[in-house]
Amino acid sequence: NWSMKNFIDTEINRIRTLVGPDAEVIGAVSGGVDSTVAAKLMTEAIGDRFHAILVDNGVLRKDEAKNVKETLTKGLGINLTVVDASDEFLDKLKGVTDPEKKRKIIGNTFIHVFERVAAQIKPKNTDKEIEFLLQGTLYPDVIESISFKGPSQTIKTHHNVGGLLDNMKLKLIEPLRELFKDEVRELGEILGISHELVWRHPFPGPGIAIRVLGEVTREQVAIARAADHIYIEEIRKAGLYNKIAQAFACLLPVKSVGVMGDQRTYEQVIALRAIETSDFMTADWFCFEPAFLKKVSSRIVNEVDGVARVTYDITSKPPATVEWE
Ligand code: XMP
Repeated sequence: NWSMKNFIDTEINRIRTLVGPDAEVIGAVSGGVDSTVAAKLMTEAIGDRFHAILVDNGVLRKDEAKNVKETLTKGLGINLTVVDASDEFLDKLKGVTDPEKKRKIIGNTFIHVFERVAAQIKPKNTDKEIEFLLQGTLYPDVIESISFKGPSQTIKTHHNVGGLLDNMKLKLIEPLRELFKDEVRELGEILGISHELVWRHPFPGPGIAIRVLGEVTREQVAIARAADHIYIEEIRKAGLYNKIAQAFACLLPVKSVGVMGDQRTYEQVIALRAIETSDFMTADWFCFEPAFLKKVSSRIVNEVDGVARVTYDITSKPPATVEWE
């Protein structure tokens, strides 16, 4: 596409002019499409003077930190530092059950960890400081943070915009701030980012912490993570991934009686969610074939210790939100 190629050239030149010949830039990446596209664009513009940071918060999906590292470094040549801060996040989350508190704790801990790591990344052979912060803000994020105080702001605290900047005296670079999601995906494809990453379902910043209802512990995260992995794997195998806007498993903090062989069990419940939507403001639940649900349910109960029952969420948005917390 001509206009996107043109956008890339213009943006790379703009970044080079703005950053100058020797300043350094940092930015957080999550493995999602926005931060990856922004990071790749920055790498094309200034190479290793861009430092990407991936914070493993202990509530990522199965093998996610490892996979993101592989894709971004080997695949895309991005200068990436991965920080495993799982213990720090999970310690702070101990005893917390309120969804908004979980979000605040994860947001604040993320800022602390990011600042600490950023301070350690010193530009090579100089005593200069990092001057710029890259953010993968899109046009809808800009609009929402300026004028929209609707459901997603008041019901749940999103923390993709601002925050970091206030605490560090960094100048902000937002190369995607005039683009919509479909344009960012197109840009990603042109920049050589894999189709799989470009079309990934969104994954919330607080991750599995808001999909483990009630207290978040390592054990609970492991159960939710294992169930989610099986579910998404089966969705991909059935060729349904791109027909669904978002899908995930939640672990409910209730126990239910089951029977395995001739043993009575008393374990927790997994709820599966899958939605179709164009804007995430309203959504319909996805209508799977019964055989698909049968297969996923039996795999989860058989393969994941601690689960006795699987349910499927048949609530649209509104009245339910996409996430359970
Ligand atoms: P809800 O649950 O509000 O979800 O209907 C709409 C979309 O927003 C995502 N979501 C979040 N994303 N931080 C995020 O980065 C959050 O705290 C958060 N809460 C919800 C959700 O996954 C869905 O795509």
